[in-house]
Amino acid sequence: MNLAGKTVVITGAARGLGAAMAKRLAIAGSQLALVDMDRDALMSTAEECERAGSREVRTYKVNVAREAEVESLFDSVSADFGALHGLVNNAGITRDAFTVKFKDGEQVSKMTLDQWQAVIDVNLTGVFLCGREAAAKMINLKCQGCIINISSISRFGNMGQANYSAAKAGVEAMAVVWAKELARYGIRAASIAPGFIGTEMVMAIKPEARGKLTANIPAQRIGEPDEIAQTVQFIFENDYISGRCIDVDGGLRL
Ligand SMILES: NC(=O)c1ccc[n+]([C@@H]2O[C@H](COP(=O)([O-])OP(=O)(O)OC[C@H]3O[C@@H](n4cnc5c(N)ncnc54)[C@H](O)[C@@H]3O)[C@@H](O)[C@H]2O)c1
Repeated sequence: MNLAGKTVVITGAARGLGAAMAKRLAIAGSQLALVDMDRDALMSTAEECERAGSREVRTYKVNVAREAEVESLFDSVSADFGALHGLVNNAGITRDAFTVKFKDGEQVSKMTLDQWQAVIDVNLTGVFLCGREAAAKMINLKCQGCIINISSISRFGNMGQANYSAAKAGVEAMAVVWAKELARYGIRAASIAPGFIGTEMVMAIKPEARGKLTANIPAQRIGEPDEIAQTVQFIFENDYISGRCIDVDGGLRL
């Protein structure tokens, strides 16, 4: 798919990886529908995209975990642009905790149902809702396109992340399902599994812990947000990629 003039929705576009994707697709000439809950930060991403040359950028304040908001988001995108060719399911959160934690034979904590549910709601249900609505609009609008789910290296199972790991494995599987279900409409689906990338989420880790983490990465550095954005562009542009997950992690294995 040639990205010039194509309409792409990016969730979680206010900062981090989503903002880097938005800027890269703006340079490629896409029309952008940027989605986030943080309106102010979203506006500044939109301004950067305009400066980078995007033909049209619109912002939508939406919680991707709420069905009614997601349905009305895709109605608005369809009305505003008259087309939909791409979706990047990027919005995500962490609520890390050990499933159970014991000290000196005593249980000191456990992952709460709130911690579990918050991550499942945004990182798994949010991806399902946006993917479902995007696919329906693409088919109705007779637009061939591509859906990309942002998974994670944690999909293999990372300590302290039962909620996040389960959701990230789930979104990879969902991309495989969509690749099979939607191929008949000319819609592809794929996922990307980043390792540790230098966004607020990762830079919030204490420098000492970050140093240890970097030492385990064969590339000996944390990734750049644009290296994930580059992979998004590659998947959109290569029409023979579908149903696969691309790992972008500097060679790290958990
Ligand atoms: N940074 C990394 O190293 C890394 C590694 C692997 C996977 N990921 C994944 O990449 C994605 C982006 O990560 P990031 O590091 O840029 O995170 P970030 O925290 O910097 O940005 C996430 C954005 O999503 C938005 N968001 C959160 N909940 C939302 C909701 N319910 N509805 C709409 N928007 C919502 C936030 O407001 C924020 O702007 C996430 O799915 C994350 O799990 C990141």
